[in-house]
Amino acid sequence: MDITTSDLGLVARVAHLGKAYGTGPNAVTALDDVTIGIRRGEFTAIMGPSGSGKSTLMHILAGLDTATSGQAWLGDTEITRLDDTRLTELRRRRVGFVFQAFNLVPTLDVLANIELPFEIDGRRPTTDERARIDGLVARLGLTDRLAHRPHELSGGQQQRVAIARALATRPDLVVADEPTGNLDSRTGREVLALLRGAASDFGQSIAMVTHDPIAASYADRILFLADGRVVDDRGPSTPEQVSALMLGMEVAS
Ligand SMILES: Nc1ncnc2c1ncn2[C@@H]1O[C@H](COP(=O)(O)OP(=O)(O)OP(=O)(O)O)[C@@H](O)[C@H]1O
Ligand SMILES: [Mg+2]
Repeated sequence: MDITTSDLGLVARVAHLGKAYGTGPNAVTALDDVTIGIRRGEFTAIMGPSGSGKSTLMHILAGLDTATSGQAWLGDTEITRLDDTRLTELRRRRVGFVFQAFNLVPTLDVLANIELPFEIDGRRPTTDERARIDGLVARLGLTDRLAHRPHELSGGQQQRVAIARALATRPDLVVADEPTGNLDSRTGREVLALLRGAASDFGQSIAMVTHDPIAASYADRILFLADGRVVDDRGPSTPEQVSALMLGMEVAS
């Protein structure tokens, strides 16, 4: 019997993953034979120069994009074998998303935005899920903002709504692409502390793409990509250590 992703203590993994965009002379290799596991309950940061394949890797992990070669699993589901319908369902039910641009629905109030994943799934939150949403809303300081529309909120508040929405369904994996990219540094740190707490306190698995050494210093683990390959894999690091590693990579390339 094969050893499964869960047996390995992983929430997601990819094996010999390749992604090319375009064909012929215009082909771009975005990912080149990447084999890596994302550990369950950890906050993992993904770093690397612009164009190194960070977003591509994360999009494939989250079922937003398909691979050219190799395999990807979310839990024990091999997502590289799923058709579009089942991929959409997996994305809806098992992945939470936090983007740089918040991606809230402008016409819906805060509570409706947080409950959107349930709405899209065609159901109401259960009693347990309702309690979880209430807990998240309180913890994220959104209790007196539930009836507001996104444009009535600050950037940091909007990102907190997006985090509440990403966590509400208790997804296997939350993916965040530059979640602090549009925030000032103080607000950004608040958002990072919330993500950190979701991993430490709820065991939420999180994969976050970032360029920022300070953001990466909140993570349990930092993966470094360069030219579509994983070139380093570190445990908790200070911003200074992350900066030194990034500088070393620039010098080496
Ligand atoms: N839809 C696409 N069509 C063609 N090429 C693409 C597409 N998306 C990404 N690429 C290319 O694939 C490579 C990896 O892109 P990716 O967006 O994953 O990089 P990244 O590490 O996230 O960069 P950044 O830090 O700038 O966001 C780049 O060379 C990029 O130009
Ligand atoms: Mg990117």
